Amino acid sequence: MGHPAGAHLKVQTAMESYRTGPETTRLILRAMTIDDAAAFYALNSHPDVMRLTGEPPLASVEAAREAIATYPDFDTVGYGRWGCVLKETGAMIGFCGLKYLADLEEVDLGYRLLPEYWGRGLATEASLASVAFGFDTLKLTRIIGLVLPENIGSIRVLEKVGMREAGEVAYDGQRALRYVVER
Ligand SMILES: CC(C)(COP(=O)(O)OP(=O)(O)OC[C@H]1O[C@@H](n2cnc3c(N)ncnc32)[C@H](O)[C@@H]1OP(=O)(O)O)[C@@H](O)C(=O)NCCC(=O)NCCS
Repeated sequence: MGHPAGAHLKVQTAMESYRTGPETTRLILRAMTIDDAAAFYALNSHPDVMRLTGEPPLASVEAAREAIATYPDFDTVGYGRWGCVLKETGAMIGFCGLKYLADLEEVDLGYRLLPEYWGRGLATEASLASVAFGFDTLKLTRIIGLVLPENIGSIRVLEKVGMREAGEVAYDGQRALRYVVER
């Protein structure tokens, strides 16, 4: 009897989906669920948070629920932006993580925290863990950050995770600085 058709082909293993991200001293990083919709709306509608992101604010909690429910990345590439949960209180205080940008063919570090949590090193803590996850677990060799030139705080976070400026890109119709770290 012959071999069944395709028997020579290696069985494809299912892609890992990293809905649980890294844990840090103060934070748990995990995929958001629709239970996070109110917190996600509070974050993404806050003018001080959105001002230098280049993105429009979310219009409602319902829009936040929809955005979370239809967020494809954990199913399509296996990783994405994680919600940041402050261990001390259990509150969802922002997001941080890695996103595959198909148009640039790069993996991008991004983060956003509610203003009351700024200035405590939390974005740096979440970002360092995300970059280490990208290199150690996802085996990436390069991670970029895109930032508006006037976003001094964000540029400082990118520098603190070891990134260096590497030119400009037009992204979403805006001029952004491109930061890079390589393994
Ligand atoms: C950018 C952001 C995530 C920084 O969060 P954070 O938790 O306050 O950052 P950290 O406490 O880890 O600070 C990292 C460094 O940046 C500096 N920094 C943070 N905000 C700053 C600001 N507005 N101006 C100057 N320096 C700033 C800190 O002093 C620190 O540097 P140091 O250790 O040398 O003192 C936060 O301001 C935010 O959510 N902004 C709105 C969303 C946004 O713009 N996201 C990035 C889009 S590219």
